[in-house]
Amino acid sequence: MSDASARIDELRRVIEHHAYRYHVLDDPEIPDAAYDALYDELQSLEDEHPELIAADSPTRRVGAAPAAGFTKVEHLTPMGSLEKVTTSEALEKWAADVQKRLGTDEPVAYVIEPKIDGSAISLIYEEGVLVRAATRGDGFRGEDVTANVRAIEAVPLRMRVPDGERPLPLFEARGEVYFPLSGFARFNAAQIDAGKKEAPNPRNAAAGSLRQLNPAITAERPLSLWIYGAGIHEGATPVTHFEMLGWLRERGFRTNPHAERFETIAEVASACEAWESHRADLDYEIDGIVIKVDSFAQQQRLGALHERPRWARAFKWAPSTAITTLTRIHIRVGRTGALNPWAELEPVQVGGVTVTSATLHNEEDINRKGIREGDLVIVQRAGDVIPQVVGPAGEHRPGTVEWKMPSHCPLCGIEVVKPEGEVKHRCPNRACPSRGLETLIHWVSAAMDIEGVGEQFVRKLWDEGLLRSMPDLYRLTSEQLLEIGGYGEISATNAVAAIERSRAQPFSRVLFGLNMPKVGWVLARNLARHFGTIDALVGATQEDLEEAEGIGPDRAELIAEWFADEENQALVDDLRSLGLQFEVGEAERAVVGPLTGSQYVITGTLDGYTREEAKAALEALGAKVSDSVSKKTTGVIVGESPGSKAAKAEKAGIPILGEAELRALLDGS
Ligand code: IVH
Repeated sequence: MSDASARIDELRRVIEHHAYRYHVLDDPEIPDAAYDALYDELQSLEDEHPELIAADSPTRRVGAAPAAGFTKVEHLTPMGSLEKVTTSEALEKWAADVQKRLGTDEPVAYVIEPKIDGSAISLIYEEGVLVRAATRGDGFRGEDVTANVRAIEAVPLRMRVPDGERPLPLFEARGEVYFPLSGFARFNAAQIDAGKKEAPNPRNAAAGSLRQLNPAITAERPLSLWIYGAGIHEGATPVTHFEMLGWLRERGFRTNPHAERFETIAEVASACEAWESHRADLDYEIDGIVIKVDSFAQQQRLGALHERPRWARAFKWAPSTAITTLTRIHIRVGRTGALNPWAELEPVQVGGVTVTSATLHNEEDINRKGIREGDLVIVQRAGDVIPQVVGPAGEHRPGTVEWKMPSHCPLCGIEVVKPEGEVKHRCPNRACPSRGLETLIHWVSAAMDIEGVGEQFVRKLWDEGLLRSMPDLYRLTSEQLLEIGGYGEISATNAVAAIERSRAQPFSRVLFGLNMPKVGWVLARNLARHFGTIDALVGATQEDLEEAEGIGPDRAELIAEWFADEENQALVDDLRSLGLQFEVGEAERAVVGPLTGSQYVITGTLDGYTREEAKAALEALGAKVSDSVSKKTTGVIVGESPGSKAAKAEKAGIPILGEAELRALLDGS
């Protein structure tokens, strides 16, 4: 047995033991940080040796990874769940049952709203102030995630109080935290950047973000939420759910704008069916529609069965897996030269959408799963959006063989390489046409986010020979677009105007768009913040580069090489002369959060944090952290053996904070 394999076995045993102590016995033996370190070690060993990953490894648990470090809390009233229906008939049967239970022929109105596929949350406000946020857990007890939830900008830390009202003594809002789809691809790109695992779907990304031990990490994620109702709400005036949604909105809660009220179940049924095709238009995933009896009085009379309200149902769509034939595996060469295999499928309906292709990861993954050309395969829409091939559906068909990555780049014909320690094959040819094209697609979409100018646009102009690199984009005229056809006067003018506007996009986006090797979104922003200007960055040595957050020696070398290349220098100069941003803006430097506007100085050694961690955590909440005490300093955080800064602050009457106070500050108390 290799060293790695022995260590992996040992780590698994130890982690399982501690997970049991923690989850089952509720009696941990080691601190959370020690547990995390074990877990991280296992994760990175497994990343290095994917062949040693066992299906029952603790890193392979379904659902969220075990989070050590959150206190369990009791819900004020249970957070129930919803009985589902899948057909209009079942919906009508439910409505008939509701009517029967109410025992009269009184009218029953319903409210329908999207069922958000995220992570359920309870927010408790005392005298209008957020005092606790908890996950759903098992419905009775959840985890206290207050520190993380505070980092979500959409969560009101204080409820709004309309004129003439007093805040309620106790109020609980309930809703769903979600990860916007627009941020999801970028998030996964950053995960890869940082050598971490991609999230399989936005729901996992939301749940995982909520359960970060370090709220600074949660703060970096674009999480949002919809509040869909109230728990305890004594003293609140609404008598129907629909009124409650309005009431919540008035008090500062984000409620979903798609909630609709209907007076008949037939209207409800047709609205639910119509949603199946609209769901793809939303910037978040929904896994159905929730239907609620509108009147609170009626809700109360109907009651619940096993924490499932009789007054509500979830209307869910057809399952999101299907079986079809994988006709061929194709290769797309990405902007970094990576060869990305994808599957051409015989068209099949998956969760109400026709799927004709699906992503695959790499040769190893394809063969581990036993995916072959010509086989019947199981296709899944992960998180209901991106189709994936799960594996073969049963036995291999006769004549199918293991798939092999082509030895030469399908675009430029050069022999591909597979760098040591990487799972992806790459085309090493920097002049490979794919690079230019994919870089341009990356530029207009992920990096500059140019409205109405996307992949199709770039491909068309590439084929027409009008576009070879980013500067070409800024020299395009609407006349040229009209000439090649396919554009009307208005669409051509709009496209050119949108490109024009993208010149104002911040420096970090420009850096991200330049497509430097291994520089994703997070690192681009770190570089922009650290160096401030392109000149500082171009002039940086490898050692200078390593000082920026997240840049190790390998990346520093690659970045330095990138800037040393004459072609790249010419590209930067060209873009600069075209008016793109090459200096960090105030807005991208700043994070807006509960501590925005405050400025702290840290001195001495802290017990529970390194100085970098404390700084990052403060900055994530919007505070500035500087090295010297000045008139602007809000407070000085003092650890063991502080320097002269503590004395200086004391003299100037600037508040001194100990570690406990720092913790309280970060917790938001
Ligand atoms: S109402 C008794 N409304 O779905 C529960 N739930 O199975 C009443 N969910 O985890 C919940 N969107 O967090 C309700 N608009 C919505 C919802 C919603 C998502 C989640 C909820 C819970 C699950 C219920």
